[in-house]
Amino acid sequence: MAHKKVIRNGRVIDPSQGIDRLADVLIEDGKIVEVTNAPLESIAEDHEVIDASGLVVSPGFVDLHTHLRDPGFEWKETIESGTKAAARGGFTTVCAMPNTDPCQDSAAVIEDVTRRSLTGAAVRVLPIGAITKGRHGKVLSPMGELAEVGAIGFSDDGDPVSDANIMRQALTYATGLGLPIINHAEVHSLVHGGVMNEGPVATRLGLPPVPASAEAVMIARDIELAALTGGRLHVPHVSTAAGVELVRAAKSRGLDVTAEVTPHHLTLDDTWVYGLHGEVPDAVPAVAYDTNTKVNPPLRSVADVAAVRAALADGTIDIIATDHAPHAATDKVCTYDEAAHGINVLETAFGQVMQLVHQDLISLSDLIDPLTAAPARILGRNFGTLAAGSNADIALLDIDSEWTVSADDFASLSRNTPLEGVQLKGRVVETLFAGESVWRSDRLEQPAS
Ligand code: DOR
Repeated sequence: MAHKKVIRNGRVIDPSQGIDRLADVLIEDGKIVEVTNAPLESIAEDHEVIDASGLVVSPGFVDLHTHLRDPGFEWKETIESGTKAAARGGFTTVCAMPNTDPCQDSAAVIEDVTRRSLTGAAVRVLPIGAITKGRHGKVLSPMGELAEVGAIGFSDDGDPVSDANIMRQALTYATGLGLPIINHAEVHSLVHGGVMNEGPVATRLGLPPVPASAEAVMIARDIELAALTGGRLHVPHVSTAAGVELVRAAKSRGLDVTAEVTPHHLTLDDTWVYGLHGEVPDAVPAVAYDTNTKVNPPLRSVADVAAVRAALADGTIDIIATDHAPHAATDKVCTYDEAAHGINVLETAFGQVMQLVHQDLISLSDLIDPLTAAPARILGRNFGTLAAGSNADIALLDIDSEWTVSADDFASLSRNTPLEGVQLKGRVVETLFAGESVWRSDRLEQPAS
């Protein structure tokens, strides 16, 4: 017998169809039947009912940039733990970055990740292939073979393709495959051992700085190579005003360029490095910084944060992607210099980016689009939608619920968040993947009487 569900009385927001209204969502056998305002009586009694009164019903989020660490770094994250974290964060599709060990530069590794995801993942996992063999930046990976077994794009993320001619070849080759090249936008020689954003905070803490131009110079180069080749360039984790301007100019030239921004670059500036949740101390305390703020690209200036926010709001930046980068305690309980780059994001992402809605910088629908329909468009797949016939991948959101981040509650195996103890407003209360609940918070288990 068909398995039927109805999500009742929610505010359904589906930017892919221009929907923002109170409605019910009908599901049958894991697929969306329709978004409807039909009267209650017409919905047969054989439906399991999920009451979404007071909640927003959104397509499940699509993350184009996730580090699952599996294979090779399973003490930090696994396919299972990372996708459970994704489900808690409302994500029903995650694209797994290839800096695993072995890295995702062969059909065998991509197939292994895909096969294990089919049985061991809470949500959909789509692997990203490496651009170059071993991610060493010297020789192209067998991109055609990787695409054949399901790679949805190519990246050496964590490291840039520094050789411009290799990048030219990668863009040219990927054009034939119709897939994007996602080049980590950083010039290593300009980073020059830097660990945080160049500016007054770095000077005060005596930490080696990373200039904004380390990002901008690489984006500029890659845009010219996209123009030269006609290739599809997706710029990951844009963090600077200069980077935004380059992407804006590339789009106005009609180039096939898209861009992403992370929840942390949208909401945290480099004063967070002090570890005081954005407060600036009068005197630098004995514990001068929080290594959980160390990330690549680094948290930037207040002006950069304003620029990426504006770029998301005006569509210059297409999508929000988490760059979920779990690391073990041993990678972070050390000096800032020694600490690994990366922030644990999947489970806090929605609460973080809701700040933009609560501050009236963007409408709720315009926030949900870069989490759903826009990344699905880049992937060329019909995820991130509640259209009839699509997978019933759905996030139920309580946009006004306040909660305090406690990394001990994470499903992720790692705890590296700079938001410990921070109050966020907006949370994911239930996630359905192919019509089945893969995360449900207390809010729905114990409805308020
Ligand atoms: O902070 C980061 N961490 N940035 C990256 O590009 C890579 C990532 C990681 O893999 O830890």
